[in-house]
Amino acid sequence: MTLTQDELKKQVAQAALGYLKNVPIIGMGTGSTVTHLINLLADCDFKRDIEGAVSSSIKTTEHLKSIGIPVLELNQTGSLEVYVDGADEVTPHKKMLKGGGGALTREKIIGGASKTFVCIVDSSKCVDVLGKYPLPVEVLPLARSFVARELVKLGGQPVLRENFISDNGCEILDVHNLNILDPVAMEQTINNIPGVLTVGLFAMRGADIVLVGKGSEVITY
Ligand code: 5RP
Repeated sequence: MTLTQDELKKQVAQAALGYLKNVPIIGMGTGSTVTHLINLLADCDFKRDIEGAVSSSIKTTEHLKSIGIPVLELNQTGSLEVYVDGADEVTPHKKMLKGGGGALTREKIIGGASKTFVCIVDSSKCVDVLGKYPLPVEVLPLARSFVARELVKLGGQPVLRENFISDNGCEILDVHNLNILDPVAMEQTINNIPGVLTVGLFAMRGADIVLVGKGSEVITY
């Protein structure tokens, strides 16, 4: 039986639960795969052992609170044991492209502050080269046009995400047509454009563990 993409997301979310057992303070990402994870967490025995979670978005915060998990500030908690999040693309080297849901800045901060980054994806997200999915770049609104011109110089075609303001009050340029052969170099280059808050390349600090829902099984690498 072939599973739908949403069923694959639920399958991989189920597998991620094992990484949250005996972890008092968890880091939680954003997106539809994470939504499945939080829904599954709601019915888990070990939910009562979770002291709190650090959340990567307002949406995730509301969802966590609705199932009774207290949401804590990263400034209070210090570094975390585990952060679990989805991705829009992930390579065999565990480099990721993220930010389709617009939460990339907080995701990168919490991922960076966590000892283990667990990336959970359905098999459609696995790629050899990043960039087929438009690369999200969060920008200060006043820098939007300047940053867009700089991104064109890098070979991309930036498109302003319409009717979208991030949780940080910023805008997002989705950059099409980038063939990202060296994700670390591209992450550093785009980070260095004045006015960029965050680029959705998670390459300098990639995932530590990737779980892939494939239907017949969940692959871990
Ligand atoms: C949000 C993200 C998500 O992790 C990414 O977009 C994947 O989302 P989904 O689980 O809905 O496929 O980076 O900013």
